[in-house]
Amino acid sequence: MQFAVKSGSPEKQRSACVVAGVFESRRLSAAAKALDEASGGHLSALLRRGDMEGRAGQALMLHGVPQLLADRVLLIGCGKEREFDERAYRRSIDLMTDQLNDSGATEAVCYLTELPVKGRDLHWCVQDAARQITHRLYRFDDYKSKAEAPRRPVKRLTFAVPSRRDLASGEQAARTGQAVAEGMNLARTLGNTPPNVCYPEYLAEQGRLLAEQYPVIETEVLDVAQMTELGMHSLLAVGRGSEREPRLIVMQYRGGKPNEKPIALVGKGITFDSGGISLKPGAGMDEMKFDMCGSASVFGTLKTCAELELPLNVVAVVAAAENMPDGRATRPGDIVTTMAGKTVEILNTDAEGRLVLCDALTYVERFEPEAVVDIATLTGACVIALGNHAHGLLGNHSPLINELLGAGKASGDRAWELPLWDEYQDQLKSNFADLANIGGREAGTITAACFLSRFAGKFHWAHLDIAGTAWLSGANKGATGRPVPLLSQFLIQRAER
Ligand code: BES
Ligand code: MN
Ligand code: ZN
Repeated sequence: MQFAVKSGSPEKQRSACVVAGVFESRRLSAAAKALDEASGGHLSALLRRGDMEGRAGQALMLHGVPQLLADRVLLIGCGKEREFDERAYRRSIDLMTDQLNDSGATEAVCYLTELPVKGRDLHWCVQDAARQITHRLYRFDDYKSKAEAPRRPVKRLTFAVPSRRDLASGEQAARTGQAVAEGMNLARTLGNTPPNVCYPEYLAEQGRLLAEQYPVIETEVLDVAQMTELGMHSLLAVGRGSEREPRLIVMQYRGGKPNEKPIALVGKGITFDSGGISLKPGAGMDEMKFDMCGSASVFGTLKTCAELELPLNVVAVVAAAENMPDGRATRPGDIVTTMAGKTVEILNTDAEGRLVLCDALTYVERFEPEAVVDIATLTGACVIALGNHAHGLLGNHSPLINELLGAGKASGDRAWELPLWDEYQDQLKSNFADLANIGGREAGTITAACFLSRFAGKFHWAHLDIAGTAWLSGANKGATGRPVPLLSQFLIQRAER
């Protein structure tokens, strides 16, 4: 998909299609009004006849409108103007994308970016449109013998901005939006890839591919022998029951000054979570292929960083393992020694995410990071608490938490903070080791974060629990690419400061 930005009136566009909004009831947007006047009232006459009310979800494709240079005019219903917020805006962009895909037009000029979206400026509108369209055009049909791709997909889209002064900012916005969506789409593809294909070494290969594609990225992959040497017995314990060996994937993005401390991103990369000996129930177990979506978001965000050439240093670490039951698998009751030296009693082998992350967190200490953010599909409890709208967010440094909350709001990929109070730490007491890997039924998301916090004492750290947000179930089953927008926005803001 190719994006461009242009200023100029809609009636003068020589294009396969001009797209303009109509509000309820039959209220023309500025662009639609201009088209109407130029065509001698053609549009308002159609609306009066009852062809379009302007309700959200309505669309009307017109051919051969008199006096216009464009072949088609696409009117998009936007609902009530007073209620036109980001959700309504996104809906109108999606509708436009689908309509264009279904039409013969492979190119269009879009005036929806000039609509007044509550609380958002032009830059946001262009960035979000570029992101939303790229996201919408995504297909995952690598494993279908016959692909169901649109016959004539849109190839080039031009966003209208009100004046020439807006061009530079608009172009930057379109680039950013597209880069974020491409990061999301990479994350989605990794998440959607079946677990017989996407196992730890496959993720390692993705890390090497990123380094090949972008020279600013350097990738190193640690194997079992190297992790044994480092004493990562907790991470290794998770992978013991699988035929596929675990890997620690370390990617360094060096866009900043050489002496500048990096931001560290740490991703949970369980390529399939059967639960291990504490086996999960069978229903819906296929969805545990998505248990590497934290790491997928790390790959995706790194791609976005490289596309945007952000001037900062990022170190990304992916803890990749497959959690399977087997004669060699870890048993409930086993005690392991972590890389940090703390011992852990593994009371439930299904609480494996924290077991791989704790060693990855200890590993990133060597980079003396400015801040560490881990991303993990960590607890079913988070799905119960927040559903699939907000990520769970916890951490040990409130400025960092607030920064991430802000990045979530700015990007529309929101997180919600949960308390990480000391009182909850007691739930992790073990009779036999320094700590247990589960904290009982209550406050499961918080006690999981408590576990991680024991390994994050040496830096500013935040944890995103994306168990509810990383993928959708049901008819629309598939990875969402979240929280790539939040993480990208966080890094963009860091690069600016
Ligand atoms: N990957 C799961 C968490 C999960 C479950 C994410 C369902 C999305 C949907 C994680 O490894 C897990 O199994 N967590 C357990 C922890 C429990 C044993 C303390 C859980 O949440 O049930
Ligand atoms: Mn599990
Ligand atoms: Zn898991």
